Order: sequence, then C-alpha cells, then structure tokens
Amino acid sequence: MTVSEASQRTVSSTQPSASPLDAYSLEQLRKRTSLKWTRYEPHILPMWVAEMDCAPVPQVANVVQQMVNLGDVGYPGKTQLQRASAHTEADYTQLPSYEQAYVTFAKERWNLTVDESNIRIMPDVMQGIAHAIQALGIRALAITTPVYPYFRTYARNAGCALVEANMTNTGALDFEELERAFQQADGFLLCNPHNPSGVVPTTDELTRVFQLAHHYNVHVIVDEIHAPLTSPQAARAAGTDPFVPALSVPGSERALVLFSAAKAFNLAGLKAALMIGGPDAHPIMDVIPAEVSQSAGTVALAAHTAALTYGGQWLDTVRHTIDLRRNHLHTTLQHLLPEATVTPAQATYFAWIHMADVQGPQGIPLGSNPAEFLLHNAHIAVNPGHTFGAGGEGYVRMNLATSAEVLDTALQRIHDALTKK
Ligand SMILES: Cc1ncc(COP(=O)(O)O)c(C=O)c1O
Repeated sequence: MTVSEASQRTVSSTQPSASPLDAYSLEQLRKRTSLKWTRYEPHILPMWVAEMDCAPVPQVANVVQQMVNLGDVGYPGKTQLQRASAHTEADYTQLPSYEQAYVTFAKERWNLTVDESNIRIMPDVMQGIAHAIQALGIRALAITTPVYPYFRTYARNAGCALVEANMTNTGALDFEELERAFQQADGFLLCNPHNPSGVVPTTDELTRVFQLAHHYNVHVIVDEIHAPLTSPQAARAAGTDPFVPALSVPGSERALVLFSAAKAFNLAGLKAALMIGGPDAHPIMDVIPAEVSQSAGTVALAAHTAALTYGGQWLDTVRHTIDLRRNHLHTTLQHLLPEATVTPAQATYFAWIHMADVQGPQGIPLGSNPAEFLLHNAHIAVNPGHTFGAGGEGYVRMNLATSAEVLDTALQRIHDALTKK
C-alpha cells in the first residue's frame, strides 16, 4: 500500500478544510522566519520544535495590528493590569486582564475556580519555573523522564541537582520511581499534559502525587502550558475533557502552576505567561520580586488575553484537526511501518513514536536514534527521543500541528527513504 492509498483510508487530512492548520501552503510556510522554519536547510521538512503551522486567531491578529498601528507598544499599562468592567471584540482597550481572561477560560474549559489574586504575570513559562524554583529554595528537583529537555537546563541554571524518575512504557507516572525520587528531592516539576508523550495523569494519579509530595515534604510545580490542547476524541471517549488541572486536586493548596496561551494559540514569539498559586501559595509567591510581573510585553499580554477570550472556536477547530492528523499518522504507520508504535496521547500536538525496530533500507533496524535516519534519508526534522532523557532512546517526537500537505509529504518521504533499494 502506498502513502496516498493509506491516506484515503482516513477521513483525513487531504480533504480541504477551513482549519487554521491548512491555511498556508508549504511555499508560504517556508517564508517564515521562526526557529522551526529556519533551523534547517530548505530541503528539510521541519516537524520538530513546538510551533504550529497555523493561521492566527483572527481577534489576536486584529488586536496586534491595532496596537502596532497606533504605536501602542510601550510598557504594559492599566488595561493589562486591571480588570476592565466590560469588553468587546472590536476594542482592544477594553480587553480584560490576562489574569481575568485565564480565570474565565479555566472555569469554562475545566470548571476550575481560581482566585485572580493568586495569579502573577511571568515573562514566559520556563522563566516562571525558574522563579518558582528560586522562591521555593529548591535544591534537588525531581522530574519524570523522558521530558521536555529545557526542564533539565533551567533546573541546572537555577543551581538545582536533578533527580530523575522514569515513567512507564505507556508514558504513565511510575509511583515507585516517584517515591524513590521524592526521598532525594525537595521539589517536583510535573509536566501536565506531558511533553513529549501527550499523556495526561488522572485525578487519582494527581491526588497520589500530592499525597506523596506531602509525605516527603516536596514542593510541587506544574507546567500546564499544553493543557488547552486536549484531544476531542479522547474527551468523547472519557465523557469529559481528559486534562485535570493540578489546582482542582486535594493537596494542591501550596502548588505553583505555570500556564501560557503561547502554546495552544501559537504565540511563542509574543512572550507572556502566568503563575497560578493554590490558595495557600501566597507566601511563596510574595517572595518573587514584583518587577518580574512587568517583564511580559504589552502586545504579548493583549494577544494572549484576546486568544483566551475569543479564541475558543479557533482552538476547538485546531484540536479537531490535530485528531485528524493523529488518526492519519496512526493508520498510515500501521499499514506502512507496523514496527513503529505511537504512544496513545490524550493531549498536545506531538506524536511520540518508537521507531527503533523499524527496518532501514538494508534491513538494519533504525536503532537508538531514528531521527538521524529521518533527517539524512527522508529529509524530515523531528526531535530525537534521547534528547528528552532516559527512556527516549529509539523514539522520535513528531509535531503534528501542520497542514495535511506537510504531513502527507513527510509520510511519503519516510516511506520512500525506507523502501529505497
Ligand atoms: C512543557 C513546556 N513547557 C514550556 C515550554 C516553553 O514555554 P515558554 O516559551 O513560555 O517558556 C514548552 C515549549 O515547547 C513546553 O513544551
């Protein structure tokens, strides 16, 4: 079976749609100056770093254009720092604050009640994590591996020792590993939803995490940047959105959560984030210097706020398109590369694919670094699994937040590279 025959088996991917992920041709995407589209030579198809190949939320584009046109690009002022009483889509000066927009978004999406006074603006999520580590005085940080590589670098930069806890083969939390790690750590940085696997912990698992953390006196920091990007089909199967916010779980009263609209709405170039504390986290958050909250950009704050306030429908279309891409990938790999296994994901736009046993052109398995084979032979850039740490060897992380055209081209290239005589 060819890639195009396999693709016809899924409702997919090749059909025209109004999805923001099908807005641009490959030729247009190549004009982008972002990291994803400039790191590699033009003959390489970039399916790596966490950027989406999407059109923006129209209201976000509108806000940014209005602000730039007016030269309204000074320091953040009152509109972003105080709650406006009423807001309309057309007038960006009446947007709520980022904090207020998050409160409304979290209530609507996850039925999570957050007190706005427990939220601080951060420059971005990773710097927010660094501030949290510093404020809590963490000296040994537990992380679950394989995990987003910057967790290691930021922890090291903050002067922390790392204690790694392996996850299970299916990407679930391994509580024996976690307990071992908590015996040596005074902090835990959880990634929920998990990058790279896209797995989300259940309420029971999160409750156990907080019980264990309480028992060993471990401070918990949770990175929820991928939270809005849950799979609608996983939600239908579960009867509810599969993402469980850490602050909805008993025992999380002192936890610190980092969130940003940057990932779900593709605004990484407009840096801003939020630190949300549990009801008893005030004393810790008060240690963070107040000036930190001035370090996000004015346009970024308005863009994130507009995304959370008006981007719901856009987000749901994107989530649905990611499901289509994921299904298409699964079906195609099942037919063409049965030795590849994709970790079932409930969230994120990543596919975490084990390819070590896939036979290369000479019948030799791709082994511990299939990304290298894909780069040199299929001309596709994916993230090598080993860069996420122990347990990542033999995997690749593929970014599915792209057009049907790009995904089909990638699958065709993989097929051609593997069947080349
Ligand atoms: C889990 C996770 N946290 C943080 C970030 C980076 O966020 P920021 O740019 O706001 O620091 C990423 C980016 O991909 C991520 O996947």
